[in-house]
Amino acid sequence: MSRLVVISNRLPKDDAPAGGLVFALHELLSERGGIWIGADDPSDDNRGGLKQIGSGEYDRFVFPLSHAEHEKYYLGYANSALWPTFHSRRDLMRHRADWFAAYYDVNSRIATLIAEALESDDIVWIHDYHFLPLASKLRDLKVSNKIGFFLHIPFPSTTDISALPEHTMLPEWLSAYDLLGLQTKRDVAACREYLRQTGEVELLISGGRLQWRHRTFAINSFPIGVDAVAISKAAQSAHAEVAAQVKTAGPLILGVDRLDYSKGLIQRVEGFGRYLDFYNSGDLRPTYLQIAPVSRGDVTAYQDIRQQLDEMAGSVNGSHADLDWTPIRYVRRNVSRDVIAALYRHADICLVTPLADGMNLVAKEFIAAQDPEDPGVLILSQFAGAAEQMEGALPVNPFDTDGIAAAIAKAISMPLEERKDRYRSQAQSVFSEDIAWWGQTYLHRLMDLHAA
Ligand code: G6P
Repeated sequence: MSRLVVISNRLPKDDAPAGGLVFALHELLSERGGIWIGADDPSDDNRGGLKQIGSGEYDRFVFPLSHAEHEKYYLGYANSALWPTFHSRRDLMRHRADWFAAYYDVNSRIATLIAEALESDDIVWIHDYHFLPLASKLRDLKVSNKIGFFLHIPFPSTTDISALPEHTMLPEWLSAYDLLGLQTKRDVAACREYLRQTGEVELLISGGRLQWRHRTFAINSFPIGVDAVAISKAAQSAHAEVAAQVKTAGPLILGVDRLDYSKGLIQRVEGFGRYLDFYNSGDLRPTYLQIAPVSRGDVTAYQDIRQQLDEMAGSVNGSHADLDWTPIRYVRRNVSRDVIAALYRHADICLVTPLADGMNLVAKEFIAAQDPEDPGVLILSQFAGAAEQMEGALPVNPFDTDGIAAAIAKAISMPLEERKDRYRSQAQSVFSEDIAWWGQTYLHRLMDLHAA
C-alpha cells in the first residue's frame, strides 16, 4: 500500500485540537496510518526543515512558521481574506498585498520541504484553503506524485470569489491537483461554474474531467463524516455523569461551535429569545447551553462577534431570567470530546444554524450520540453542507429568527414517534457514510484516476 502523506495547517499537538478537520483526519490516519504534516507553533525563526513531533498509528511532522508568517499567512490572508470570502462574507474580507505575499511564500517554502521528504509512490493529500497553491508549487519542483485536495469549507459563488484579486490564479492552482474534493454537490456546481466562467478551463467529455492547458483534473463531492460508532460509545459511557452535572429544570437545547461569525450565533441567540417571547408558557423552563470556544481571537472580526454574542446573550438572559433560572448558559472554554458526546445524548434539541458551513460535523456527531429509543431533535440550517444528506432534520433558514423560534417550539413538543422516524433517516447516513467511508471513497477515486 502506498504511503499516505496528509498536509493541513492544523494538526493535533499536546493541547486540545480544534475544529472538525483535525478530528476527522486524526480518525482517518489512526485507522490507515501515514504521515501528517502541519504548521508548528509560531517562533522567531522560519528556517529549518520538517520536525517530527510524534509517532504511533501515524507520524506527525511540523514545518516552522515565524511570528510574522503566522500573522500574515494564517491570521491575514487565510483567515481574514479567504475565510470570509469563502463563507459569503465579502463585507468582512480584508486584503493586503503583504498578506498574500506571505501566504504564497509559505506555500513555496513548504513545497520544497515536502518535495524533499516524498517517496515516488506516496499519495499526497492536501487539506483546506491555507494551501490552495501548494500543488502548483510542488509541480514546479517536478513532483509527479498523485496529489489530492480537499476543501473543508464551502466553494464560493463566482461573484464572491471574484472579489479576491488573486482569483485569476485559481485555474492554475486547482488544476495542479489530480482530484479536487468538495463537501457537497452544491460546491461542485459552484466550482465548475466558476472555472467555466474564467474561459480558461475546458470540460472534457470523457469521465467529466476538466482541462487547463496540459493538465487534466477531476472535481467530485465527498461529504465528510464522523466516527459514529466511537461517538455513540463515548456518549453512552459518559452520559450518567454528565447528566448529573448539567441539571436543568426543563428541556436542554444545545449548541456547540467555534466562536465564528459564520456559525450564526447571534441569530441563534436572538431566535431563542423570540421563542421565549412568543412560545414559552412560563412554566416550562428550557436551558440553552451554548459551548463556543474562542477561535482566531487576534482577528478583529472574531473579537467583534465575541462582543456581540456577550451582549445578545446578556440581553436575552436579562429579559427572561428568574432568581432560580438562567435560560442561556454560555461556556467559552474548551470542553472535552467525551463530555460533548454525552451532552449530545443528554440534550433534547441541538441547534446547528450556520449562515454558511462546508459540512458541520456537530450535526452528524449529535445524531451519532443519540439513544435510538428516545432521540433528540436536530434543528439544521439549510446552509450547512450536512443538510444535503440529513433530510430528517428540522430545517431552518438561519437568518429567520422567527423561523428558529418556531422550529424550537416544534422540536420541544415533537411526539416520540416522529423523533424516532427523523432520527432513523439521519442515523442511516451518519453511520454508513462515516469518516472511514469518506477517506476510502476519496482515496479510491484518486487511485482510479491513477489508473485512468
Ligand atoms: C475549520 C477549517 C479548518 C480549521 C478549523 C479550526 O474547520 O476548515 O481548516 O483547522 O476550522 O480553525 P483553526 O484556524 O483554529 O485551525
